[in-house]
Amino acid sequence: MSAHTPLVPDRLEQPEDANALDAGVWPDGAMRTPSGVLAIGGVSATDLATRFGTPLYVMDETVVRARARRARAAFDAAAAAHGTTAHVYYAGKAFLSTEVVRWVTDEGLAVDVASGGELAVALAAGADPRRIGFHGNNKSVAEISRAVEVGVGSIILDSDIEIERVAAAAAARGVIQSVRVRVNSGVHAETHDFLATAHEDQKFGFPLSRAEEVVARIRTLPSLEFGGLHCHIGSQIFGTAGFLESAARLVEVHARLSASGEVRVLNLGGGFGIAYTSTDDPTPIEELAAGIVAAVAAECAARGIPVPVVAFEPGRLIVGPAGVTLYEVGTVKPVHLDDDRTRVYVSVDGGMSDNARPALYGAQYSARIASRTSTVDSALVRVVGKHCESGDIVVDAEYLPGDVAPGDLLAVPATGAYCFSLSSNYNYVPRPPVVAVADGSARVIVRGETIDDLLSRDAGVRPTEGSE
Ligand code: LLP
Repeated sequence: MSAHTPLVPDRLEQPEDANALDAGVWPDGAMRTPSGVLAIGGVSATDLATRFGTPLYVMDETVVRARARRARAAFDAAAAAHGTTAHVYYAGKAFLSTEVVRWVTDEGLAVDVASGGELAVALAAGADPRRIGFHGNNKSVAEISRAVEVGVGSIILDSDIEIERVAAAAAARGVIQSVRVRVNSGVHAETHDFLATAHEDQKFGFPLSRAEEVVARIRTLPSLEFGGLHCHIGSQIFGTAGFLESAARLVEVHARLSASGEVRVLNLGGGFGIAYTSTDDPTPIEELAAGIVAAVAAECAARGIPVPVVAFEPGRLIVGPAGVTLYEVGTVKPVHLDDDRTRVYVSVDGGMSDNARPALYGAQYSARIASRTSTVDSALVRVVGKHCESGDIVVDAEYLPGDVAPGDLLAVPATGAYCFSLSSNYNYVPRPPVVAVADGSARVIVRGETIDDLLSRDAGVRPTEGSE
């Protein structure tokens, strides 16, 4: 295989050393031990695989905590520079387990949940309900009732029908529920670009043009307290432009709403991007936070209103870079495409059931052999899973040492967000366990599924007499 065949995407360059760990992509502290084995949080990949098996989600607790602290400090500093304060909610949809909730709440974050299930996990972790925000475009009446009952700090309203449902649930309990109004700023930012349209064709929130009417209705309902506007413009966003445009549009409406009553908070959602491969270059969160809050403050000054409390909901930013997935290589297969092109398929023991993002979004990842280093020249490979779909790709294109072989452990970095939370049992492949590493030790924080777990839900399974 030549170094630059058309099989190589533009972004990918042949590395000088296909064992090297790019600091921008691997969790802080990831390194090679003297024998060449990858270590995460001070625990070697071979030890992890021996103790817990593969595939395995590995979360570095130290990194999650440090990233939560850093985000908190960045938004606090940005807010303080303009005489206000910041609320930082961890968006649990990125990765939710009781342990992770404890880590981020310990570090001063509140929690954003988007279903009754996520709410249950946050509560089971002991999160203070008053520091939980509850999202969703179709919360059930039971979910709303539960949220009101436990006293969640804010419910983010998404439709006219929901205003009435939340008001009724709060009235029935004789409480006043604090709510936010999800608006659609018309700015829809994705990945490296943003697109502004007046009327977004999507399911979330109210058009900004309806905000005053909607808030007026809420203010007539004695069981609701309107706390502010909420907006989320997209996910895995790299630059500031989309956030700034959205903030400007929101403050304009926020100012009009402030004329007829206090509006305490402006929540600008999450969406801060991370590096998945060496070519990704996300803006540091300090820079993003400072820029966004400065834009909010400038817009408020221009309208002669005080700067509100600013709220944010980072998910991926906190957990994405802290996660690594470990797999074992099962087969290596050269596939001849035509006379002079061959693609090497490296199959691992997981795939789209533990990471749906390549199949869903064409997401790009990188990989390294974790169990050893190699001096053999690197070769272009495609890492694929074990599922019955040709789109079951783990890493579309990567250079690995040319002697990659069955039995090697393969590690894929930046899998901490939206991999476990989007996982499935496709092909009845059990979901892997999640192991937390920190300071040289490892412990299971979510146990892996077994075949018995999978069979336990099948109402037609008959008890067997003994085994054969
Ligand atoms: N707040 C709201 C209201 C959201 O809808 C989301 C994400 C977040 C915060 C957190 O966004 P983050 O900071 O994590 O980008 N499954 C997709 C991402 C879906 C994001 C949905 N909402 C993916 O794997 O890329």
